[in-house]
Amino acid sequence: MAILLPPISVEPMRERDLEAVAAIDRRVYTTPWYYSAYVTELSNRSAVYLVAREGERIVGYAGQWIVMDEAHITTLAVDPARQGRKIGERLLIALIEEALYRRAKHLKLEVRENNRIAQNLYRKYGFQPMAMRKHYYVDTGESAVVMWASDIHHHQYRTLLDEHRRAIEQYYQQEERF
Ligand SMILES: CC(C)(COP(=O)(O)OP(=O)(O)OC[C@H]1O[C@@H](n2cnc3c(N)ncnc32)[C@H](O)[C@@H]1OP(=O)(O)O)[C@@H](O)C(=O)NCCC(=O)NCCS
Repeated sequence: MAILLPPISVEPMRERDLEAVAAIDRRVYTTPWYYSAYVTELSNRSAVYLVAREGERIVGYAGQWIVMDEAHITTLAVDPARQGRKIGERLLIALIEEALYRRAKHLKLEVRENNRIAQNLYRKYGFQPMAMRKHYYVDTGESAVVMWASDIHHHQYRTLLDEHRRAIEQYYQQEERF
C-alpha cells in the first residue's frame, strides 16, 4: 500500500519553531540546550539556524556560526522517529550551501568520540578528524573529536556536494514509488 508522506523542506528557524526544536533536543542530547540559548542564537547575526519541516511538523534542525572564513557547526539533530531518511544530510547540505554563500572556506565542528553515526555523516561530507579535546563533555566525560573540512570552494568539494545532492534526489524519487 502506498503511504504518501508530505515533502520535507529546509527553512530558516523562527522563534515559533523553538518548542518543537527544544522537544527534539531533549530527546537526542544528554545535555540539551536551554530554550533561551536558541532565542539568543536567533538574534546572532553570525549564526545560521535551520529547521527541516515535514508538512507542519519540525523533524530536525541545525545551526552554525560563520565568522571570517570559518563556519562552525554548533548543532545538528533529527527527530529519532524520522532518522535514517536523509534529513540530517539535507540539513548539513543546507548549512554548507549557506557557508559557501557567505564565503566561508572551512567547516569545523566537535562531535562526541562515541557518536559514530554523526561521524559517518560528517566524513561523507569531507570532514576529517583533526584533534581530540579530552573530556570535553562534562555530562559523560567523553572526549570531542574536532573535525574539519577545508577548501569547500574547491571544485572537488563542489563535485562531492553535487553527487550527494543527486543521490538524495534519487533516494526521494524511489521513496515516492513505495
Ligand atoms: C546524526 C544525525 C543528525 C543523522 O541524521 P539522519 O537523518 O538520521 O541521517 P541520514 O539519513 O541523513 O544519514 C546520512 C549519513 O549518516 C550516516 N548514518 C546515518 N545513520 C546511520 C547509522 N544508523 N549507522 C551508521 N551511519 C549512519 C551515514 O553516513 C549516512 O549516509 P549513508 O546513508 O550514505 O550511509 C541523527 O542521527 C541525530 O539526530 N543524532 C542525534 C543527534 C546527534 O548526534 N547530532 C550530531 C551532533 S555532532
